[in-house]
Amino acid sequence: MGYRETYKSWQDDQEAFWMKVAEAIDWIEKPSRALDDSNAPIYRWYGDGVMNTCYNALDRHVEAGRGDQPAVIYDSPITGAKATISYAEMTNRVAVLAGALAGKGVGKGDRVLIYMPMVPEALMAMLACARLGAVHSVVFGGFAANELAVRIDDATPKAVIAASCGIEPGRVVAYKPLLDEALAIATHKPDFSVVLQRAQLAAELGENDHAWGDFIKNAAPAPCTPVGGADPLYILYTSGTTGQPKGVVRDNGGHAVALHWTMKNIYNVEPGQVFWAASDVGWVVGHSYICYGPLLAGVTAVLFEGKPVGTPDAGTFWRVIEEHKVVSMFTAPTAFRAIKREDPSGELVKQYDLSSLKVLYLAGERADSDTILWAEAQLKVPVIDHWWQTELGYPAVAIPMGLEQMPVRLGAAGVALPGFDLRVLDEAGQELPADELGVLAIKLPLPPGTLAGLWQAGARYRSAYLERFPGYYETGDAGMIDTDGYVYIMARTDDVINVAGHRLSTGAMEEVLSSHPDVAECAVIGVKDALKGQLPMGFLCLNAGAGREAGDVVEECIKLVRQKIGPVAAFKLACVVERLPKTRSGKVLRGTMAKIADGLAWKMPATIDDPVILDEITQALCEMGFARR
Ligand code: COA
Ligand code: AMP
Repeated sequence: MGYRETYKSWQDDQEAFWMKVAEAIDWIEKPSRALDDSNAPIYRWYGDGVMNTCYNALDRHVEAGRGDQPAVIYDSPITGAKATISYAEMTNRVAVLAGALAGKGVGKGDRVLIYMPMVPEALMAMLACARLGAVHSVVFGGFAANELAVRIDDATPKAVIAASCGIEPGRVVAYKPLLDEALAIATHKPDFSVVLQRAQLAAELGENDHAWGDFIKNAAPAPCTPVGGADPLYILYTSGTTGQPKGVVRDNGGHAVALHWTMKNIYNVEPGQVFWAASDVGWVVGHSYICYGPLLAGVTAVLFEGKPVGTPDAGTFWRVIEEHKVVSMFTAPTAFRAIKREDPSGELVKQYDLSSLKVLYLAGERADSDTILWAEAQLKVPVIDHWWQTELGYPAVAIPMGLEQMPVRLGAAGVALPGFDLRVLDEAGQELPADELGVLAIKLPLPPGTLAGLWQAGARYRSAYLERFPGYYETGDAGMIDTDGYVYIMARTDDVINVAGHRLSTGAMEEVLSSHPDVAECAVIGVKDALKGQLPMGFLCLNAGAGREAGDVVEECIKLVRQKIGPVAAFKLACVVERLPKTRSGKVLRGTMAKIADGLAWKMPATIDDPVILDEITQALCEMGFARR
């Protein structure tokens, strides 16, 4: 069946569609129905089914005779390490870790926080939790202790699994001191921590810490704990409008069903083939397409620790594709912009045999046409922009290559996939006709595997997503749909920005800046950047009589954001202004500020990091009466 027939079959009978798709998963007790809408607009999928996600991701492939097939290929140019781990080995190691965790009292429903870099043990930790029915919450390594503490207090984990360090170009990031600081700040105290000691830096262990090796030494492998289809698998925190991140809850059954479906139907990858999502386990892309999606489908996942450029050079991606015979790949456009900047004429590409690669998918931020066209010219395969969000867990809009090799339209993120009834609404919630720009919303119910809610925040879930347009899920993006059903994503409608494919809250940065004693008020906007897509830029109004040099306050503020939110915020641009542009009711006109900044930045070939551009933005704001030099 092609795309349109498949989409129509879903539209005609959603229940039958999802019951059929669910047959690809091994259930301990088969669900009697797919959707439970008795508590709409809160929906549950496969609620009376019983299964285990880890069993479906690992054990069943071994039982089916595929134990020797690689499950994970670890490739770490930044450390020089490489490893191939078979499904059989992965199953054993995960079972033993799960046994050790169970021995310390971790069981079904308990939360476990995971703070690890891109090492195989990160996937093992996630899967060991899934095996026990415990709920993991992975925190990206680029966040600071304070952000970690916020997540510890929200998820109240029984245990923490961490590594001694992460490796960034030119520096070793000591994770353990960050974890210790976070635990000191947090009110909630987990029972114990397990720490993977990496060769690059050993961590000092305290009385509640166990070295990974010792922890698993005498553990017996744990069996898979049966869980309900609607029981939570993980919590993944993502940025919202305020400093308090949203804990997106994912269930077990719907997640396994949906992700399995996407591997063949969207990414067109078969069991035994190699799929590579160049992202990080700390993001949803890593959860869905470094860990669960490939493994649920019996595909081999590449786990890449490094950067697309500089480690050792801008040919790293090509080397990985050639060496591991990657068939289908996924990354953020920013990675390709970084490579293009280093090797614009593609000299390095020519040195590798990329014939295994059939398709490249891009998401996480707007893909500019230049990058898409450049990538197509280098790789000579379709380069496909597609759209989804942490909340959705997998693509809602794409060209589903496994279903049909539909034409790609430059500027569009593809077509709505089965499960997603996308609409464009005006401010009053009225549906807009084709080709008109408005708020992108999805008619409820959302399909299996999308967010089951926000952790311990039911009211926030409703107010953030469901209340503004009753009967719809509000995506937070603006866009339009053309007469052929191609979807164009324009911009966020809230205070979320995308920096190098990382989702960040300007509201959270404003909260940090406001805590500086000399800052009276402030605004953070996203300005366009030729490499990272967007960069945050802060505008600071100082307290009257602060008597401080603007430059000193700016420097302190930049340090403060790095210290409180983390290096991932990439907050390096700020200026002092006389006042902020506001509406009569006192609302800061962030849109106006962003337009001024963009108008200048986008004209420039350099990145916004350039002091000359920063100066021009400040100058433009001065001329409009907002800024001072
Ligand atoms: N642990 C600790 N620090 C981290 C980190 C981690 N896991 N990840 C990033 N950081 C740090 C970086 O070292 C950098 O610090 P710096 O200010 O001291 O240089 C800062 O956070 C910003 O990181 P980033 O925005 O990633 O910039 P970068 O210059 O290191 O790399 C790219 C830029 C484009 C090469 C990189 O972001 C990339 O490859 N992105 C595409 C893939 C991707 O991650 N997508 C995510 C969703 S699909
Ligand atoms: P995240 O939750 O980190 O995956 O970020 C989701 C947000 O990233 C979306 O709401 C969009 O704003 C943006 N985004 C993701 N994919 C795309 C895309 N293909 N084009 C434009 N924006 C995108």
